[in-house]
Amino acid sequence: MTEPAVDEPDASAKDGEIIIRVRNLTNAFGPQVVHDKLDLDVRRGEILGVVGGSGTGKSVLMRSIIGLQEPVSGEVDVFGQPMIGRGENDAKNVRRRWGVLFQGGALFSTLTVAENVQVPLREFYRRLDPQLLDEIAAYKVAMSGLPPEAGPKYPSELSGGMRKRAGLARALALDPDLLFLDEPTAGLDPIGAAAFDELIRSLTDTLGLTVFLITHDLDTLYAICDRVAVLADKRVIAIGTIPELLALDHEWIQEYFRGPRGRAAADAAERGGHAPEPVKQGA
Ligand SMILES: Nc1ncnc2c1ncn2[C@@H]1O[C@H](COP(=O)(O)OP(=O)(O)OP(=O)(O)O)[C@@H](O)[C@H]1O
Ligand SMILES: [Mg+2]
Repeated sequence: MTEPAVDEPDASAKDGEIIIRVRNLTNAFGPQVVHDKLDLDVRRGEILGVVGGSGTGKSVLMRSIIGLQEPVSGEVDVFGQPMIGRGENDAKNVRRRWGVLFQGGALFSTLTVAENVQVPLREFYRRLDPQLLDEIAAYKVAMSGLPPEAGPKYPSELSGGMRKRAGLARALALDPDLLFLDEPTAGLDPIGAAAFDELIRSLTDTLGLTVFLITHDLDTLYAICDRVAVLADKRVIAIGTIPELLALDHEWIQEYFRGPRGRAAADAAERGGHAPEPVKQGA
């Protein structure tokens, strides 16, 4: 088997270009080891796709980078600052530089969309004028491609796609430099997913964001990701552009990208769109 370019931490990128640096990260729940000495670098300005089978620890990895999951051991630096073991207040200057869209959206169901967007603003800027809060929320709602009428609605009154956009609006509340997105297009129809992909790509380019994007969506990988990290065997077994990954002789990677869905996504990428909804095979 060819040794993936990337079990080695990325030596080609200069220090200042690494926004997230994970070293020797070990996560476990009781006897279940999810990550075993995992390394990962995310570069400034890139959209890094994170893929791996269900349960390989993609969400746990994200949670341990943003401080919601205390690892057994290892180091996580974000914007050059160590994150592990730092109290909420201590790391506030770093935490306010990122926005998070959790798997499933995780909006507060008792708050309207606008109020949801205001949650991080209230947390970090306690003395903001209510009118200014409303204005910022309206601006973020618009930025996420929602109509102004969505602001006063509750999450239960929105479609799945609109809920994703509302979650994105909240993730953008603090003008982040770094965005964490966990399965942002899951459950969207192909057209809705493609529109969401385009939104993320254009926001990334115009706002100069760095994006950590967990996805199962092959179309998303082809359409907007600069590099892709593959999680398997409790580590990032490979990271690179899709052509670089395709050159690796690894069973899961080959099956993933060269299986029927992978081929459909590659074809769709050549045509510049999302693959059509796959026909269910009875299973
Ligand atoms: N809070 C928790 N307590 C115990 N086990 C957990 C907890 N969170 C995650 N796990 C376990 O850790 C493993 C990795 O979970 P994780 O949610 O990161 O998977 P994932 O790669 O995001 O999967 P999916 O693609 O289905 O979202 C799973 O076996 C899961 O059961
Ligand atoms: Mg997950």
